[in-house]
Amino acid sequence: MTLQEEVNSRRTFAIISHPDAGKTTITEQMLLFGGVIRNAGTVKARKTGNYATSDWMEIEKQRGISVTSSVMQFEFEGKRINILDTPGHEDFSEDTYRTLMAVDAAVMVIDSAKGIEPQTRKLFKVVKQRGIPIFTFMNKLDRDGREPLDLIAELENLLGIEGVAMNWPIGSGQTLKGLYDLTNNRVELYRKDEADRFIPLNDDGSVDNPLADDPQFKDTLDEIDLIKGAGNEFDRELVLAGEQTPVFFGSALTNFGVETFLQSFVDLAPAPSKHVVNEDEELAPDNEEFSGFVFKIQANMNPQHRDRIAFVRICSGKFTKGIDVTLERTGKTLRLNNATEFMSSSRMQVSEAVAGDIVGLYDTGNFQIGDSIYSGKHAVKFAPLPEFTPELFVRVSAKNVMKQKSFHKGITQLVQEGAIQLYQNWQTEEYILGAVGQLQFEVFKFRMQNEYNSEVEMTSIGHRVARWIDPKDLDLSMSSQRNLLVKDRFGNPLFLFENEYAERFFKDKYPDVKLTEKL
Ligand code: G4P
Repeated sequence: MTLQEEVNSRRTFAIISHPDAGKTTITEQMLLFGGVIRNAGTVKARKTGNYATSDWMEIEKQRGISVTSSVMQFEFEGKRINILDTPGHEDFSEDTYRTLMAVDAAVMVIDSAKGIEPQTRKLFKVVKQRGIPIFTFMNKLDRDGREPLDLIAELENLLGIEGVAMNWPIGSGQTLKGLYDLTNNRVELYRKDEADRFIPLNDDGSVDNPLADDPQFKDTLDEIDLIKGAGNEFDRELVLAGEQTPVFFGSALTNFGVETFLQSFVDLAPAPSKHVVNEDEELAPDNEEFSGFVFKIQANMNPQHRDRIAFVRICSGKFTKGIDVTLERTGKTLRLNNATEFMSSSRMQVSEAVAGDIVGLYDTGNFQIGDSIYSGKHAVKFAPLPEFTPELFVRVSAKNVMKQKSFHKGITQLVQEGAIQLYQNWQTEEYILGAVGQLQFEVFKFRMQNEYNSEVEMTSIGHRVARWIDPKDLDLSMSSQRNLLVKDRFGNPLFLFENEYAERFFKDKYPDVKLTEKL
């Protein structure tokens, strides 16, 4: 296969949803089709309340299957699928945003009884900004849910995206009969074996089956007429631009409609496309030179080995074991001997991967989130990943003063991983953590204890407004309890203002001093 053919066979996406909509269940079904796991069922054991363990590790433990946290890879109908996991909890973390920077499409799973929920809205916004295609799966059709027409209308009203039905339920909940499949011109019957699950549609849209006389089937035909009349017609260009979302109905738990969905998805979702690098250059995925960026760093994925993995999204060329690359930030050359991919029953040494794939590089401290790496002579720098100015802050210290070493090691690694932001009081050097959501602190505490055997004490200093100041304007007398002077992990000074009033007061007092929201 040529490089271009290989790249064209890649489908790299993330599933976004509100917790409990069925993301885990549908992913599990997909892995089943990909032959990665053998049994699927209700993933009940997952809900342990243990935040730090990812959903995947938990499934792995409870069900005796091997999927690796964060990235799952499998083959389906001649395509190589990469699913990137986004944390499914309520609290929003920067990690989720960054992961969404590494995908080419998103699947939005919605609980058809609940419609669009808050977390889905937030994630949708990020995906929409990227302008990548979004495919919608209305799940839990086996339960009584909202009217399909309402659900489609909600996409437009709440999210501002046009929904176009690719199939339509016949009945729902107790009376679910099947799906009227507008893409494949067939009816897919509920709870039937493979052999008699599908009935082809006649040219006029009818079926030669007793179902044709079922009042629910007639309702379905009426509703389809209605949506067709409303003008939302499938338009591939609009889908690829992220302006229209194809909507599929189904039930992940009963494995109904998932395979049809996956088939359409691999067909319609885009292969990896070009990236903008060095501010204004276009880099094609089938460019022979390898390049990629680090979007996530995770330590201790394997508790036995205490390793650290940098996840790289490959954007061009081919990765081969032992390839020499330049780390753009430092100009240093690195030989990538030790990489892992995420296929089949265990983590495997990767020998080859192409644009669209994700490789995990064993990291001994070389990489930072957002780093660009490339193999050619021409330097490649990807656009910076979005950063978020923390709004919540806590003071942190080791509970046991005798255990400073493990405390420092843990803090350093977790901060490099991008799990949390670290500051130090300018004068006392006391540690302060900053986060976007409260959960980041809880995960930090849990991981410090479990992975570094370091119990930490945290005292909230509440919401604050972080603003950087030019060092040449800095005067130590400017600091007070209401505007605490701290330094970030690179030593840059910033103030943590108690609130916006404190910031305004400061600005009035020092009108010539410029404060910035980000560095
Ligand atoms: P998440 O990853 O998005 O958080 O959702 P997950 O797949 O864990 O699914 C959440 C719950 O919804 C699970 O129930 C799961 O079995 C159920 N579920 C998923 N898809 C469907 C579906 O198509 N139909 C029905 N009826 N249920 C579905 P659970 O963990 O067992 O919790 P519980 O409902 O038993 O309390």
